[in-house]
Amino acid sequence: MGLLILPSSSSDLAALKEALESCRAFNLEEIAVALEILDSAIAGGPDGDYASFTAHQNHHPAGYICVGQTPLTESTWHLYWLVVHPHFQRQGLATALLSHAEAFVRSRLGRRLILETSGRPDYQGSRRFYQNAGYTHVAQIPDYYRDGDDGVIMYKQLS
Ligand SMILES: CC(C)(COP(=O)(O)OP(=O)(O)OC[C@H]1O[C@@H](n2cnc3c(N)ncnc32)[C@H](O)[C@@H]1OP(=O)(O)O)[C@@H](O)C(=O)NCCC(=O)NCCS
Repeated sequence: MGLLILPSSSSDLAALKEALESCRAFNLEEIAVALEILDSAIAGGPDGDYASFTAHQNHHPAGYICVGQTPLTESTWHLYWLVVHPHFQRQGLATALLSHAEAFVRSRLGRRLILETSGRPDYQGSRRFYQNAGYTHVAQIPDYYRDGDDGVIMYKQLS
């Protein structure tokens, strides 16, 4: 019982797809890309191009995080996806997933983690979540995703 974080596996897929669809943060194209990356992470395992970890809350796959080393860099990693099913939000799951992913990146000698998110007002909660976790807002690119939808780049130096 309780929270368990494990490398994502194909048996998590249906529940994680539901988390992506029901959190209302992602459009259909974004969900399709997220699932493609998740498939690749599951096929390659944690030491493939992408590493994905699922949070199991009382045996239910409630959310996941996906990271990967940034190509052509020595020790920089990207956080590609983080989602928690709305039913399980505000219970500390994303915080636990992020700590787990940061420890994993450190264990692979990664020294910084970068993420790109939206500057839209409805993403304010997500940006606050990352700020609370020690991520600094380093850039904002106007209309990056589409007109009126800026791209925000945040990063954290991992000691
Ligand atoms: C962002 C997200 C991953 C947070 O997941 P979570 O499991 O609810 O996060 P936690 O419970 O670990 O939250 C830790 C803290 O972050 C902050 N936080 C989290 N969600 C927040 C929100 N919607 N508004 C304001 N602050 C928020 C709070 O300080 C929270 O602590 P508190 O509940 O004691 O106030 C989740 O809301 C989500 O999946 N959103 C949709 C997808 C998304 O936006 N992903 C990230 C951008 S790509």
